[in-house]
Amino acid sequence: MCGIVGYLGRETAQAPLIDGLRRLEYRGYDSAGIAFHEGSKFSMARETGRVNNLAESVQKKCSPASLGIAHTRWATHGAVTVSNTHPHLSYDDKFVLVHNGVIENFGALKRFLSDKGIDFASETDSEVLCNLIAFHYSELPEGENRFVDAVRQALPQCRGAYGIAVLCLDYPDTMIGARRGSPLVVGLGDEANFIASDASAFVGRAKEAVFLNDGELAVLQANDFRITTLEGQEATAVTHPVDEVSEEVELGDFDSYMEKEIYEQPMALQNTLLGRFGDDGTTSKLGGLEGHEDELRNLDRIIFVACGTARHACMVGEYLIERLARVPVEVEHASEFRYRNSPKAGKSLVIAVSQSGETLDTLEAVREAKTKGLLTLGITNVVGSSLARETDGGVYQRVGPEIGVASTKAFSSQACLCAMLGLALGRMRDLSPMDGQSIVEALKGLPDLVSEVLQKGEQIRELAIKYSKAEHLLFLGRQSLYPVALEGALKLKEISYAHAEGYPAAELKHGPIALINPDCPSVFIVEGNELSAKTIANMQEVKARKGPVLAIAPDGIEIPEEAADDVFRLPDAHEVVRPILANLPLQLFAYHFARLRGLDVDKPRNLAKSVTVE
Ligand code: G6P
Repeated sequence: MCGIVGYLGRETAQAPLIDGLRRLEYRGYDSAGIAFHEGSKFSMARETGRVNNLAESVQKKCSPASLGIAHTRWATHGAVTVSNTHPHLSYDDKFVLVHNGVIENFGALKRFLSDKGIDFASETDSEVLCNLIAFHYSELPEGENRFVDAVRQALPQCRGAYGIAVLCLDYPDTMIGARRGSPLVVGLGDEANFIASDASAFVGRAKEAVFLNDGELAVLQANDFRITTLEGQEATAVTHPVDEVSEEVELGDFDSYMEKEIYEQPMALQNTLLGRFGDDGTTSKLGGLEGHEDELRNLDRIIFVACGTARHACMVGEYLIERLARVPVEVEHASEFRYRNSPKAGKSLVIAVSQSGETLDTLEAVREAKTKGLLTLGITNVVGSSLARETDGGVYQRVGPEIGVASTKAFSSQACLCAMLGLALGRMRDLSPMDGQSIVEALKGLPDLVSEVLQKGEQIRELAIKYSKAEHLLFLGRQSLYPVALEGALKLKEISYAHAEGYPAAELKHGPIALINPDCPSVFIVEGNELSAKTIANMQEVKARKGPVLAIAPDGIEIPEEAADDVFRLPDAHEVVRPILANLPLQLFAYHFARLRGLDVDKPRNLAKSVTVE
């Protein structure tokens, strides 16, 4: 999955394209490239590494032009090299193309084209598509529609997913975009039009956006655009206003987006909670669930589908919803759900959780659930995202843009919304008003408790210094703190490249205890209930084997001196908010741990913020 942006207008295309790429870098940053239509030829610049490298080389290699396409790559087919970097130029130098997605049958198409004598300059599936369009173009008679007809002939031959932008040398005032599976949006400005993977690429430059649906194709000129199906039928273009540039995407006094996003969690959660409680103070009120009350009251099962950090938030939700609403809950890796022959068990609700709302595995899981006739709800942060548009109902996280690749504030708000959902479902079923009231109060108090924990950031930095030499770490917790252990381990390995594993605390003795030695610290997340004694016993098992122990524990739980080397204290709190609070020191621990190693926490190697390939 990659970021695409194309510009066609009166200005020179360089600034809009480079700015657009910078905003899309969260989709991948292995390499970046740009191509401009210069009348008689395409000028191109392509560089491995970040968009900043490309910006320098564009100055040297390209002259001003008002039509261009650009791309930031997360490698799927082919290594991170300049020749595999987009845009790709066709064998006859007539087309340039940028692509997001995977053409699954590219091998067969490549053989077909090779048999026609066409050579390839890269290992990518995207170059194959570019050459396929050029090949069809060469076979078509001259005429006004030759460019669009070539695209229309090539795309149905491709299996898999694509979002593309393509230019043709013979059409100096036209840009074509098309999508299937990978997002693509048209931006409409004053005498300038855009195509991009997401609207953030043209915020501040375009006034309106038109989200393409699968199987649609957009033909753009500077003052005009047309959207059709691949077959050529007119499609309806629904325009949405493009939000103004928000200050939230500026770094301010912080060194990294990850740190900024960790520290803005009190405000982010305030927004997640705002206006979402019933007037009687015993339940939550989630507008996106309205109209589905009867289905929710009579549910037999909930299946969460999500990936990465979002899946860990769902696992927190699993514990809370089962406890509050007594509905059986399953949490699936979205990528697995789609291919399972899961038996239909009564009335099931599928809840898809995705910060970006564009993770392809999650979207495909939703599509599969809909095929099976299941009710689908989405929890997402991005307004108008594919997930928001494709589910039957849902809830927005409202935490503002999350730029750091390692998800932090999004996790907290997803876990918070799962608790709110559990509360709403519980009150529809059999949770008492008194229990409902205490949960409402706990949730309302969450932002202040988050602030209280974050104020102790310096203590976490000192702990990170103490443990920063470790190459292997274990994270352990029980019940709703088990997913927090998984998330703590994921955060650490994502950004520091140390090896970390999360386990249920009691599972330690069934295998991972073999890893314990003086160089392998264990981070225990201790419950604020009767189970804490058992977790403390697990800590002692580690200490008995000379393993260092760091405990994250609520104030009210006594930790014997011999059980832990260090203890980080959390405020005592209701069980619905404990997982969110316990995760905060782990976010900060990972952050400082990685910074101490001199790493770029916002753009960890090999990762991307939004993964739009399967
Ligand atoms: C990628 C990111 C993770 C994220 C996951 C799900 O793998 O690197 O940080 O948790 O996608 O993203 P989503 O946008 O669906 O929440």
